[in-house]
Amino acid sequence: MNIISGGRAAGKFLTWSSSYLSIKSDILSHAYGGDFFVGLYQASIFKSPYCCVTRAASSSAPVKKKNKNGKEKSFSLAESLVKRTRSNRDLDEDVIEQHLSVDNSHIPVMLGEVLDVFSSSNRQLCSFVDCTVGAGGHSSMIIEAHPELECYVGLDMDPVAHEMAHTRIGALLNGSFSNTSSDLRIHFHLKNFKFIKSVLSEVDERFIHKGADGILMDLGMSSMQVNNPERGFSVLNDGPLDMRMNPQGSLTAEHILNSWPSIEIGRILREYGEESNWFFLQNKIVKSRSTGGLHSTKELVNLIQNSTPRSRGGRQGWIKTATRVFQALRIAVNDELKTLEDSLYDCFDCLAPGGRLAVISFHSLEDRIVKQTFLDILRRNNSEDEGDGQSSQPMNKTKEMDAEETWIKRAIEGKNARILTKRPITPSEKEGQLNRRSRSAKLRVIEKV
Ligand SMILES: C[S@@+](CC[C@H](N)C(=O)[O-])C[C@H]1O[C@@H](n2cnc3c(N)ncnc32)[C@H](O)[C@@H]1O
Repeated sequence: MNIISGGRAAGKFLTWSSSYLSIKSDILSHAYGGDFFVGLYQASIFKSPYCCVTRAASSSAPVKKKNKNGKEKSFSLAESLVKRTRSNRDLDEDVIEQHLSVDNSHIPVMLGEVLDVFSSSNRQLCSFVDCTVGAGGHSSMIIEAHPELECYVGLDMDPVAHEMAHTRIGALLNGSFSNTSSDLRIHFHLKNFKFIKSVLSEVDERFIHKGADGILMDLGMSSMQVNNPERGFSVLNDGPLDMRMNPQGSLTAEHILNSWPSIEIGRILREYGEESNWFFLQNKIVKSRSTGGLHSTKELVNLIQNSTPRSRGGRQGWIKTATRVFQALRIAVNDELKTLEDSLYDCFDCLAPGGRLAVISFHSLEDRIVKQTFLDILRRNNSEDEGDGQSSQPMNKTKEMDAEETWIKRAIEGKNARILTKRPITPSEKEGQLNRRSRSAKLRVIEKV
């Protein structure tokens, strides 16, 4: 096997008790501030179909939601639960423990479910692309599970993640594990996944002729990013107002806060943070420029604390607001939503027939883009065949319970693509308990026909 691009020595391995597992998951939920609180609080405030699930799960009372005409309607617990499919797959706690044992590491979310997506297909997984390799958690397990794999490509725009994945996968291949094909070629690229097409065309001719058998996107931040205050992602730890996933990027949160026009600050707080107090915060941020501006996460958090009345969510209400403001800034700094939408089309184009694209998202803005883009791909491919670009009946909805693929509950069938997750899959209860960050995760999968 061959690893292309440089690497570093293997990480530290320690043994942890299972009681540590739950303590660590609590610590992570605090450290994560961002993703965890955003998922939870967007759920209760913005009444997306998925929010009802979160609230219903802890209460037997009927859930109120607005219908298409804007009128409020009560839904029973059962009705609201159909809006997503909670995974009932057994969780391999040993695997989670193994990931926790690597210092400051990231626990891969819905690992078993992701393995199912790429293992239960009728075809072999000879080529695989991980667009968000992170600490290499998902990737290493996929490589282990697929001895037939011949070509692996790992992308990440964060050099720390890139290095870590390189080390982990290198150690896997050089160590006791020898289940891989001797022809396996491993390529790591320190690149934004929006460049997937150019990367794949450079890497291996097979991608140009055949396409990839599997592509994974596990969006958002890694633990390594959130736990390092110097990166500026954490609400709870002081650091510079950076928030770049790619440290070479030119735009930082500090630049946005201190130089963007007031109207743009308001827009990102409203659209990317879904923050209802956006106008007040926009004015406070712009006003702070007259006294030197904002230069650390603590200064921003102080401004938010002083701007959040206690009537808004109680004494800790500011944390929810801060989480939404941090989310808005992070999305703007990394241009996350536009990049995601464009890249989903490109990833689909890079699939081989029968190949699958799996996407794990962590907040409703991302999930909405994944859902709409998958539907658009289905429609686009159908209408292209019909030549008018505007098919009124673009797809047949099908119900599917294939014996060999029990994880597929309902699929939507088009001519050239199948969405294998009509409803997104969410983590099992057990996983939610062990890794609180996973609670807001949603997995959607599309297959090229
Ligand atoms: C949730 S972590 C992935 C964790 C990984 N699946 C694992 O099991 O270790 C997300 C990673 O995606 C990277 N990332 C986010 N957006 C990206 C983009 N547009 N292009 C490349 N990498 C990106 C981040 O730097 C981060 O390392």
